[in-house]
Amino acid sequence: MQYHRHDAIIVGAGGAGLMAALYASRQVDTAVVSKLYPTRSHTGAAQGGIGAALGNLEEDHWEWHAYDTVKGSDWLGDQPEIEAMCREAIDVIIELEHMGLPFDRTPDGRISQRPFGGHTNNVTKKPVRRACHAADRTGHMILQTLYQQCLKNKVNFYDEYQVMDLLVNEGRVCGIIAYEIDSGELHVFHGKAVLFATGGFGRMWKITSNAHALTGDGNAIALRRGIPQEDMEFFQIHPTGIKGMGILITEGVRGEGGVLINGKGERFMERYAPTVKDLASRDVISRAIYEEIAEGRGVNGEDYVYLDVRPEIVNKYFEQDGVKNPDGTPRRITAEEVEKKLPDIADFCRVYLNVDPVKQPMPIQPTAHYAMGGIPTDGMGRVLGDGKEAVLPGFYAAGECACVSVHGANRLGTNSLVDLVTYGKWAGADMAAHCQEMELTPLPEETWQPIAAALEQIRSRSEGENVADIRRDLREMMMRCVGVFRYQDRLDEAVEVVRELRERYEHITIMDKGKRFNTELLEAWELGCLLDLALVTATAAAARKESRGAHARADFPDRNDQEWMKHSLAWLEEGDSVVLDYKPVRLVTKPDGTPKYPAIKRVY
Ligand code: FUM
Repeated sequence: MQYHRHDAIIVGAGGAGLMAALYASRQVDTAVVSKLYPTRSHTGAAQGGIGAALGNLEEDHWEWHAYDTVKGSDWLGDQPEIEAMCREAIDVIIELEHMGLPFDRTPDGRISQRPFGGHTNNVTKKPVRRACHAADRTGHMILQTLYQQCLKNKVNFYDEYQVMDLLVNEGRVCGIIAYEIDSGELHVFHGKAVLFATGGFGRMWKITSNAHALTGDGNAIALRRGIPQEDMEFFQIHPTGIKGMGILITEGVRGEGGVLINGKGERFMERYAPTVKDLASRDVISRAIYEEIAEGRGVNGEDYVYLDVRPEIVNKYFEQDGVKNPDGTPRRITAEEVEKKLPDIADFCRVYLNVDPVKQPMPIQPTAHYAMGGIPTDGMGRVLGDGKEAVLPGFYAAGECACVSVHGANRLGTNSLVDLVTYGKWAGADMAAHCQEMELTPLPEETWQPIAAALEQIRSRSEGENVADIRRDLREMMMRCVGVFRYQDRLDEAVEVVRELRERYEHITIMDKGKRFNTELLEAWELGCLLDLALVTATAAAARKESRGAHARADFPDRNDQEWMKHSLAWLEEGDSVVLDYKPVRLVTKPDGTPKYPAIKRVY
């Protein structure tokens, strides 16, 4: 057994983890423990941009960004935290630029910005250029920039260590247990504070943009430690994944003028969102695609549509819509610009689909993309142990695994990156202050032993259930029962099926009995995390009898603010029982006490 001692222990090396590490390491001894090599983290898959109302190309204000985010969240986001994030985004972008992030530039040298879904000029209601971008590799560039800064700041990196448990003693979090993938040994990390930035859990759906690593490890560990998960019924299905594979085709394609076309050659978003059309928010577009397919207007009658960025098509619609450049001249795009602004997308399409997006439309279908829910935190990233008010001292969460909640029922594109860097920064700074104030809490009596026993049980079982079979059954069922449109009977079925799968999971066996790089063992453990999270997701979705954001109930088609403008909290109890509770959405009011953002029906 190896023991390590650092003040601040950060689990996960994506944007939130690295930003937190950078801030914490300016004041205290900081370690980052990651199951991947840091620059392979999933933040690297965020393509199209990071939102901030810089107003570099046209008028914009952080207040507009905040209103769009509240509206995008379908009035489930916590408004003080949304305002804080949108205001801070401007400074953080400049900070990242000063760290060396190679943003694309306008001709006069400012950070370039492109339109993105749901981001609007609040006066004209038209799309606004708010997404700062580095071609279509924005997340990748954020990772590289932050990793370099962390190395410069002497952050201690433990790469390819899988977190397995959280250590709590005397009512405080004091460390983690991690599994070193290379050696198969368990390690105890003892510290004054722990931050989870472990990403999402999209791997529970069959078609997903999420990397293999996104199995909700941090969320499942918190759940097993008695911490509820907030708003788990809200999982975003991004409208444009590569057909059959789910790999993300950035919304930046539509930001550059790309349009969605059905099997009859119609630009169907004109019917669903007459003002912003292909730049409506993601929940709206995903539903529109499903409706087109259901009504037989998929391409060749199949379950996909086209995303078209061919210059002749884009320019036709630019002309039709009267789209202008910032200088008032008519907007046009060339094949060279498509290649330059969307190089990864062009590559993906050529490699995976044998489609050249400059000459052919891209076949796409919606793909499971982002968890709006997660570990409940306050605005400093401190985990609320009871989900409501009580901070669990020493425990922090940021990024996709956390629920602040700034995304509510539906996240706007670009706001995941904004969330990572703003709340990552605040959580890292608060963590450092906590570490400076607090003495080290001793480790609990039992640390690694229960995890060692659980892993040994899986490894030593000679026959039983196959991990891949259970995972396949889970993913297919989640796609069918907990997807874009939801029905009571299918959600109830989902709860039942997950219970059966969890029962089967108790008897899993693996073939690799070795210790070094035993990825089969790790995948088995990760599946356990997905199953626990699937149970709370399906249960929370079955309970919410309204439609809001990404949670579209075919049997309850309207949003019901009277009864359901509230966050859900889900606890996993002994056995298979999920306990649900709710808490109010946090609103911002005007000096006269009336709501600053009165809840209205979303119209795009
Ligand atoms: O479409 C995209 O580029 C994805 C960005 C995001 O999820 O914010």
